Amino acid sequence: MNNFIFQSPTKFIFGRDTENTVGDSLAQSGAKQVLIHYGGGSAEASGLLGRVRSSLLRAGLTFVELGGVEANPKDTKVYEGIELCRREKVDFILAVGGGSVIDSAKAIAVGVPYEGDFWDFFSGRARAVKTIPVATILTIAAAGSEGSESAVITKVDGSLKRGYSEELMRPVFSILNPQLTVTLPPFQTAAGAADIMAHIFERYFTNTPDVEVTDRLCESLLLTLLHEVPRALADPGDYGARANIMWAGMVAHNNIVGVGRDQDWSSHAIEHELSAFYGITHGAGLAVIFPAWMKFTMSHDIMRFARLAVNVFGCQMDFVAPENTAAEGIARLEAYFRDCGLPTRMVDFGGKAEDIPYLAEHLGAGDGTIGSFVPLRTSDIAKIYQIALE
Ligand code: NZQ
Ligand code: ZN
Repeated sequence: MNNFIFQSPTKFIFGRDTENTVGDSLAQSGAKQVLIHYGGGSAEASGLLGRVRSSLLRAGLTFVELGGVEANPKDTKVYEGIELCRREKVDFILAVGGGSVIDSAKAIAVGVPYEGDFWDFFSGRARAVKTIPVATILTIAAAGSEGSESAVITKVDGSLKRGYSEELMRPVFSILNPQLTVTLPPFQTAAGAADIMAHIFERYFTNTPDVEVTDRLCESLLLTLLHEVPRALADPGDYGARANIMWAGMVAHNNIVGVGRDQDWSSHAIEHELSAFYGITHGAGLAVIFPAWMKFTMSHDIMRFARLAVNVFGCQMDFVAPENTAAEGIARLEAYFRDCGLPTRMVDFGGKAEDIPYLAEHLGAGDGTIGSFVPLRTSDIAKIYQIALE
């Protein structure tokens, strides 16, 4: 196991009706003038935003609003938010929505006190040393941004989808009410679950030895998702299923299951090109890329794939030919994604063979590599897109 420091300062307020306490929590955290940041309409339509405004008013807080964050959030909205926060002297940002809204809020928050262009952080030119505090009310279990130190933003000019991680970007508090997720369309529920599983796989596939605690935590989270997601899809109002998926989404990505081990993250980088190019949902793109990445890298550590197949997907271990067990596990993962209504091939959303050279180059590995389980060159990335194509 590698050395590590783990600090997850976010306070989680979990359960039914908890959004009604947001005003008090903000006031206790020192907020005075709040930006309520939200997405394309679901939070207004469900009545959530109305309850949030009432809660803030009851707590004596003033606020301004900025909605319209799109899925795969854009830098243009971040610039708008930075300007608004500076003009209105906002001292706290409340993100009401999913990963896209939360990430947009995090990017605005580090952008406001920074004199340069906030994109400097996402392009690796600078590191954030100051932020406006951010809190969240989560409406979809998926990205894990409610507990993570990361944000992912797309620069419209050049279609660059890039992530940035910094400890100071973890939310001060996050309100997680599973009831808020019952309005999710089945596709978003399933795509969110695929993203949660991907966050576990990115950590599970490691070359670091002796990481039994985190290995087993990863496996138990995956087993939970295999059990709970079909229940939520069959009955969207199933509170128990929604609650377990929501908490799994947080645990999968605040890094408690990733400490002390090298992590991979190449599948996320490979997927981000699909989201940026085809505009597809991140989790759906991962349902396509992860099985392809697994097929490409399986021979590197057959026994790790076989372990996943046995411990999570219930396969019988073939001791003579463990590669058969490993392959069977990947096949069961693909079948699971398909049963959930997700795409598993690029052609399912219009991907074409002639797009692949552009996608692989645009990812920007250059002459170097990405990932750590199996470092991938641009030519390897192209092969993974090829496997994922049809
Ligand atoms: O905009 P609205 O109308 O709210 O609709 C959203 C959106 O269309 C809808 N939705 C959300 N909650 C709903 C709902 N519809 C009905 N009822 C509800 N309760 O769902 C759609 C997707 O929302 P989005 O916020 O985009 O989903 P998600 O949480 O999956 O976030 C995806 C983004 O997070 C990034 C992804 O790359 C992507 O840009 N990620 C962020 C990470 C992080 N910050 O740590 C890590 C992840 O790996 C991921 O990369
Ligand atoms: Zn993800």
